[in-house]
Amino acid sequence: MRYRTFGRSGLPVSEIGHGTWAMGTMWGPRDDASALEALSFGFERGINFIDTAWVYGNGHSERLIAKALKESGEKAFIATKCPPKNRAWPAKPGVPAQEVFPADYLIEMTETSLKNLETDCVDLQQLHVWDDAWLEQGDWQEAVAKLKAQGKIRFFGVSLNDHQPDSGLRLVESGLVDSVQVIYNLFDQTPRERLLPLCREKQVGVIVRVPLDEGGLSGTLTPETRFGKGDWRVHYFKGDRLKETCERAKGFSFLVRPPIQSIAQAALKFCLSDPAVSTVIPGMRSVKHVEANTEVSDLEGFSEEELKKAYAMAWPRNYYPSY
Ligand SMILES: NC(=O)c1ccc[n+]([C@@H]2O[C@H](COP(=O)([O-])OP(=O)(O)OC[C@H]3O[C@@H](n4cnc5c(N)ncnc54)[C@H](OP(=O)(O)O)[C@@H]3O)[C@@H](O)[C@H]2O)c1
Repeated sequence: MRYRTFGRSGLPVSEIGHGTWAMGTMWGPRDDASALEALSFGFERGINFIDTAWVYGNGHSERLIAKALKESGEKAFIATKCPPKNRAWPAKPGVPAQEVFPADYLIEMTETSLKNLETDCVDLQQLHVWDDAWLEQGDWQEAVAKLKAQGKIRFFGVSLNDHQPDSGLRLVESGLVDSVQVIYNLFDQTPRERLLPLCREKQVGVIVRVPLDEGGLSGTLTPETRFGKGDWRVHYFKGDRLKETCERAKGFSFLVRPPIQSIAQAALKFCLSDPAVSTVIPGMRSVKHVEANTEVSDLEGFSEEELKKAYAMAWPRNYYPSY
């Protein structure tokens, strides 16, 4: 496993981090035993960065991480998220910051996450939605300063709205954040245009989420795939979306050549090809996936020609329902 410096924190984080949304909620039945096994195998393979959120099962994913850390005796950089108070994903334009992240609420939710994580200090607290208009609004900045001063959070960041990488450009410019979390994958490459170069310039950490397009770039879905009960992807891949996604994913087969063994590995390596990226966090609930994904870090990357061909095949679209 290779490590990159997480923004201006100076801390080394593993190129492959662990995404844990599916361990908490919305991806069908939970299997805590497999999730714990995957987390602990991740530590063995060098993962030292885990992304979670209170909303991933109302603290369930956070509690699993605490258990995995306790059982393995390992230490890891933990990134969690404070949900919007109005429970609206993505952030709706025009809604004031004070309705979404008032200071007392941000403090209270951080303390809840600390309890779930069984720690006095979380490495990174992120706002789970963001709107650049909030820069001049509300009292959330006071809460961040207080949490940092009290030693309850080490760093602060935001998770940008789905497929809206430019919605955080002013925030990155402002120097108020240590990191941003953004969708960046073979399909949606728009962060390359403005957000990634700016983060590099400002030394802001970049956490790449959804590198496998919720499975669309995993190489394991086919047009015939049927999602199980409680798996939200029934909506994400509804109608002809799955068929088109599978066809488009196949187009990237030219990236699967030794030592890259699968579309999933190619998709992760693509994200790592940008030096602005600090860590890529595929969702992984099995040892098998942790094994395949952690391998990617040490593999040789793509040539300029291969990357140019991949850039030309970008397919930005937004399949997310809003809540
Ligand atoms: N708004 C936000 O802040 C936000 C939104 C979405 C996600 N996130 C974060 O980003 C993380 C990653 O996103 P995601 O989990 O939604 O989507 P993703 O990483 O794009 O895709 C996850 C899917 O890929 C599968 N997979 C992983 N490795 C594989 C491999 N080597 N071969 C085949 N399939 C593989 C997973 O299976 P298994 O689950 O069975 O292992 C799961 O079905 C989340 O877990 C979460 O931490 C944040």
